[in-house]
Amino acid sequence: MNKVFKIGLIGCGHISETYFRAEKYFNNIKIIKCADIIYQNALKCAKIYNIKALSVNDLLKDEEVEIILNLTIPKAHYEVARKSLINGKHVYSEKPLAINFNDGKELLKIAKRKKLYIGNAPDTFLGGGIQKSIELLRKKTIGKINLGNAIFAFPGVQSYHPNPEPWFSKKEGGPVIDMGPYYITALVNLLGPAKKVSGSIMRGVNRRTIGIGPRKNKTFKVECPTTYLSTIIFENGTIIRLTLSFDVIAHQRNHIELYGNKGSMIVPDPNMFGGSVYVCKKLGDKWREYKTNKMPLGKINIRSQSSRANESSTNANYRGVGLSEMAYSIQNNKSNKCNGELSLHVLDIIQSTMKACISGKTQLIRTNCKIPKPFSLDEIKKILK
Ligand SMILES: NC(=O)c1ccc[n+]([C@@H]2O[C@H](COP(=O)([O-])OP(=O)(O)OC[C@H]3O[C@@H](n4cnc5c(N)ncnc54)[C@H](O)[C@@H]3O)[C@@H](O)[C@H]2O)c1
Repeated sequence: MNKVFKIGLIGCGHISETYFRAEKYFNNIKIIKCADIIYQNALKCAKIYNIKALSVNDLLKDEEVEIILNLTIPKAHYEVARKSLINGKHVYSEKPLAINFNDGKELLKIAKRKKLYIGNAPDTFLGGGIQKSIELLRKKTIGKINLGNAIFAFPGVQSYHPNPEPWFSKKEGGPVIDMGPYYITALVNLLGPAKKVSGSIMRGVNRRTIGIGPRKNKTFKVECPTTYLSTIIFENGTIIRLTLSFDVIAHQRNHIELYGNKGSMIVPDPNMFGGSVYVCKKLGDKWREYKTNKMPLGKINIRSQSSRANESSTNANYRGVGLSEMAYSIQNNKSNKCNGELSLHVLDIIQSTMKACISGKTQLIRTNCKIPKPFSLDEIKKILK
């Protein structure tokens, strides 16, 4: 029987609902208390989920709480994670680890010194879609990977988010920090660590218009580049062209395509857990579909469109599995899959991509990381309810 870890939630915003849902899927996590810099938000959350609301400081010092779940905004991730560790708590944060590399590095140092676990979203790579792709790559289904393309591109959140400014702010704005973690974490799991990155930017419009809410039709200033076209070279020699953009109205490209010397592969959406993998081994042949909807973390579980924009009714969302897997790892004294080294490497690639694209100068990636072992059915079964 797994121990049920007592979780303290800091940051009671939109995404918190998804983590409360995770308690229904996984058997070793229970959010018992919550806090927010805006106490009203904590009170509201506590009422909905029948838990206790505390001040942030009281939650950090609460003796019952064993893991802090940090769902604050990206620029607060570092400070909240740091305080959690200083107060002797393991911490699991939403993506990214921090908004700058040195802060991320410091978090890992503190965690090591205090012998505490650090975990970080995204955990989507533990889903059926990416795990099936990894399995096929390991079997050399498409041979040695030489090249690939990856893209996240859309017009930006301003049309459907009432407060879109943070996505366009100087320090934490732009598509690399926002969506890069999903793509880069998936690519690192598929291909191994990255070595260097180069690229360029395109600056979109200077001002954008809010499309919804009380400030509808108000404009605001765009303070960061909104399109990054990068080339990442991985340690294994694979070259990936990665496009991340808030300036594209629509497109029909696949999220990730990998080209090997024995075939090509379409990898499903790294922002979600399910989706089919497609493989083609000969020009003109039909693409073979590898379904993941029977895999425990690929099964469709989003039946109706919720308020979350990234949840379509035909997809699988098991966010929170990384937290549950971390709890299991703490209990069994093993390294967790969504671990600090992986997140720091991803943060390194994020920051280096932005620097390379803005400056036009190739950046060497400073860190390395061990790739988490595939998530076995046995391991998954141990934490599933
Ligand atoms: N919204 C999404 O679709 C989505 C999806 C995946 C991941 N994420 C990530 O989850 C995180 C939260 O996103 P969200 O959409 O829930 O944001 P949100 O703005 O709805 O909620 C964030 C909450 O954190 C609180 N907060 C901010 N700074 C704090 C601090 N220093 N201490 C305590 N509380 C603080 C805010 O008051 C707010 O209630 C972000 O890192 C985001 O990248 C969001």
